[in-house]
Amino acid sequence: MSGDSWDDYADGWDDDPAARAYSRAAYASLVQDLEQRGRSLDQMRVLDFGCGTGLLTEQLVDQAGSVHGVDISPKMLAVLEEKATRLGWTNVTTSTTVPPDGAWDLIVCSSVCSFLDDYPGTVSQITAQLNPGGVFIQWDWEATEGDEGHGLTRTQIDEALRSAGLLDIDVRTAFSIPFEDQMMEPLAGSGIRR
Ligand SMILES: C[S@@+](CC[C@H](N)C(=O)[O-])C[C@H]1O[C@@H](n2cnc3c(N)ncnc32)[C@H](O)[C@@H]1O
Repeated sequence: MSGDSWDDYADGWDDDPAARAYSRAAYASLVQDLEQRGRSLDQMRVLDFGCGTGLLTEQLVDQAGSVHGVDISPKMLAVLEEKATRLGWTNVTTSTTVPPDGAWDLIVCSSVCSFLDDYPGTVSQITAQLNPGGVFIQWDWEATEGDEGHGLTRTQIDEALRSAGLLDIDVRTAFSIPFEDQMMEPLAGSGIRR
């Protein structure tokens, strides 16, 4: 989908209980992933790629040093910028493209990778801007081989992270939470830059 198409979702995104529950669970799984790597969010310089309205950003702002949200949808970013101004998040910045001078300690991609035209290429590009030892983590719905819908297989994630040169790669079910009459069980894939 283009940025224009995502613009149509901006107004109601923060009111969607599924999106809120997903981002809370993604945050909890991020904290766990960092703990297992002996790392913490404290003062990290974070890139939230495909940040949307910032549902994940808003959970990172207190502990991280800074969060830069990137999204192709100007309307999604406008919602995040309004929240940042209203809530006094002076450590949050945004742009529609990834700034060239990254030096990120952490890159988070929540429900965006399966929508990218070139998923492995984009992961390679953005993770090249991680500091040595920096962490990359993504969350996406799980697809099975041959699926037509949006989602990624475990193999696709593993291969993309490997071809980006990441180490200590872990691809697993990120969380399992009931929502209405279904279970939300997306995948997480993470790794570190050498
Ligand atoms: C399903 S939403 C997830 C938003 C947010 N991460 C969340 O968890 O609430 C996908 C987001 O990815 C963004 N997106 C899609 N393609 C993108 C690209 N090539 N670069 C940056 N953002 C993109 C969309 O504009 C949209 O805001």
